[in-house]
Amino acid sequence: MYLQQVLADHHGCASYLIADTTTGQAAIVDPAIDTSPYEHVLAERGYTLRAIIDTHTHADHVSGARTLAAAHDAPIYLHRNARVAYPFTALDDRDQVTLGDIRIEAFHTPGHRAEMMSLLLTDPIRSDRPIAVLTGDSLLAGDAGRPDFGGGDAEAQYRSIQRLLSLDDWVMVLPGHFEGPCGGALNGMAVSTIGYERRFSPISVMNRERFIDYLTGAVPPRPLNMTAIEATNRGLIDAAWAMPADRSTIVGLAPHEVAARQDALLLDVREPAEYRAAHIPGAVNVPPCDLASRIEDLPRDREIVVICQAGRRSRRAGSFLADRGFPRIVNLDGGTDAWLAAGLAIDSGDPTHTAGLLASAR
Ligand SMILES: [Fe+2]
Repeated sequence: MYLQQVLADHHGCASYLIADTTTGQAAIVDPAIDTSPYEHVLAERGYTLRAIIDTHTHADHVSGARTLAAAHDAPIYLHRNARVAYPFTALDDRDQVTLGDIRIEAFHTPGHRAEMMSLLLTDPIRSDRPIAVLTGDSLLAGDAGRPDFGGGDAEAQYRSIQRLLSLDDWVMVLPGHFEGPCGGALNGMAVSTIGYERRFSPISVMNRERFIDYLTGAVPPRPLNMTAIEATNRGLIDAAWAMPADRSTIVGLAPHEVAARQDALLLDVREPAEYRAAHIPGAVNVPPCDLASRIEDLPRDREIVVICQAGRRSRRAGSFLADRGFPRIVNLDGGTDAWLAAGLAIDSGDPTHTAGLLASAR
């Protein structure tokens, strides 16, 4: 068996190329939008792509599944519960995709999303018991995938994690993420084992109530452009451009410089609850998940000051806008924290979501 983990380091995503070295049949699981690493391996080794499997409809990165399917005339496999607008081969729990003797078995683990399935990988040359489980956004190293990206269910996630943790100790855990916003306490590892997670993961000692409280409590902000990315992966729109590339470097301003900007649009890209708690007077709120979806609301003829809590999320959001051709994007360095520390005026209350208001705000 050939098994390569391909990390999209910038986005914290892991994908997998699996092949049977005897027959040269290959499968790719959770491909990134940049399909060149897989193409390189397939060409160099002379493998034939027989299956593309998305463990679920992703909301944080654009999948390369349809690009690969078109290039190789290979089927896309998803769990039967997936709600997408393009053809796919539906898998139910325990259905198998085979590559020569190698078995990839659907192991339905809903929770992050209803269609989320893990994949048990078995190489019968060594054993009839699985050697690895590809867990997508169910069991992560030190964490579990959050249920609030659309269609998730914390209670189902608890049952799924218990199901995964009942596998044999030696089974490698190969998650879909090693960093990023999909879990609140990812420990940075892209590989683990069931035994290690059962013994040392903070979530493995939680009872059902604590686990649900944990998953539904404080979570990191939702991914930048999540709404447009999820709709693209469902085939409802074509907004692959919503995948942040972070090519542009943007200028940073200190709080007193922002305070002196009379004509700029102050664009607060935090979650609504953060904005409600405290925001710069006159700032409008576009949550990070909706930035691409609402990009047409933003003025291209005004300077836009992008603001978050500490200045990092806004720098990424600002870079995305600059990449999309907005000519005058600047960042509030240090974010709302720096604004507060400078003793400048602050406001609180509901965010403004009304489309069209952005162009006239402030
Ligand atoms: Fe996900």
